[in-house]
Order: sequence, then C-alpha cells, then structure tokens
Amino acid sequence: MPGVVILEEAPSVDVFIALREAVGWGTADREAASRSVVNSLYWIILKDEDKERVIGCGRVIGDQGLCYYVQDLIVLPEYQGRGYGRQMMEKIMSYLDSRAATGAIAGLMAAINVENFYLPYGFEKRPNLRMGPGMIRYLADPFEETREKRK
Ligand SMILES: CC(C)(COP(=O)(O)OP(=O)(O)OC[C@H]1O[C@@H](n2cnc3c(N)ncnc32)[C@H](O)[C@@H]1OP(=O)(O)O)[C@@H](O)C(=O)NCCC(=O)NCCS
Repeated sequence: MPGVVILEEAPSVDVFIALREAVGWGTADREAASRSVVNSLYWIILKDEDKERVIGCGRVIGDQGLCYYVQDLIVLPEYQGRGYGRQMMEKIMSYLDSRAATGAIAGLMAAINVENFYLPYGFEKRPNLRMGPGMIRYLADPFEETREKRK
C-alpha cells in the first residue's frame, strides 16, 4: 500500500539542495552538493509515494574504518512530528551498528534545539566531563548565493 516509505538510496542533487533550503540551511553550491551525493557512504530518502515526492533524507559519511558522521537528516516541515525522523535515525543506526569496530565513533553536529532528538540513539552532548566542545568552521558563507539572488 502506498504511503510514506524510507528507501536506502540517494536523492537527486536538485532534491538534496531543495531539502536543505526547505529547512533554512541556505542554497548549497551545486557542484559540491553533487559530490556529496556521490561520495556519501549511506543514504536514505523519505518518500511520499502518493505524491511521488521526496520529503526527507539523511546520510552517513566517513572513512569506513574508525570515523563516521551523520549529516543532513531532514524531514520537510509539513511532515515533521509524525515519527519519520525517528524512523530514519533507526535506519541510520542500523547502518552504523553494522559497521561498528573497536574504537570506531559516529559524530554529528546537532542543529540548535535538536540535541535532545539524538539522545535516544546514544549520542552524547559536548562539552562534558570527558570531552571538549565540538567545533565547526564554514569554509564559505552558505547564504551568500541566496543573498545574491535577492539583489
Ligand atoms: C530533527 C528532525 C529530523 C526530526 O524529525 P521529525 O520527523 O520531526 O521527528 P519525529 O516526529 O520522528 O520525532 C521523534 C521523537 O523526537 C522528538 N523530537 C522531534 N524533534 C525534536 C527536537 N527538535 N528536539 C528534541 N526532540 C525532538 C519527538 O518529540 C519524538 O519524541 P517521542 O518519540 O518521545 O514521541 C526534523 O525536525 C527536521 O528535519 N528538522 C529540520 C532540520 C534539522 O534541524 N535536522 C537536524 C539536523 S542536526
């Protein structure tokens, strides 16, 4: 029966860019986004089969050894709060569990006010007594292109 399904496949580049835009992350560079689509280790998409529309995604990147990173977990705003984010994280955790090796880690950078969403999957907030803060540097302004278009 059609409905909302999770598929273990990558979105198209255009859909990936649009999903990121829809949750306020700006317009990503298309070339770079296409490399992200191809070079990720594991992708899932959330698809509304009735509307033939991709409504979410999530992915894992990493070195296939000791380091993995969860990125771009997105559910379109109109579909949020219905358990789809949890279903996608469960898929991602199954993938990560299947790759677990002694010493391996999975990281993520939680968006503001989303940290608690990840607690049930065993992710720890930083800083804590054992670990310093996570850190990030944008290599280019993600909102620059959006601003240019508005001019
Ligand atoms: C974060 C996101 C993926 C969650 O997806 P969702 O489909 O709305 O979440 P679900 O309905 O599956 O919620 C699952 C559980 O997490 C909780 N939850 C949802 N959003 C949460 C949040 N921001 N903070 C804490 N808990 C949250 C729900 O209450 C629910 O709890 P329950 O199991 O006790 O009922 C979605 O809100 C989203 O795409 N946000 C914008 C993009 C984003 O910030 N992504 C995360 C990047 S780090």
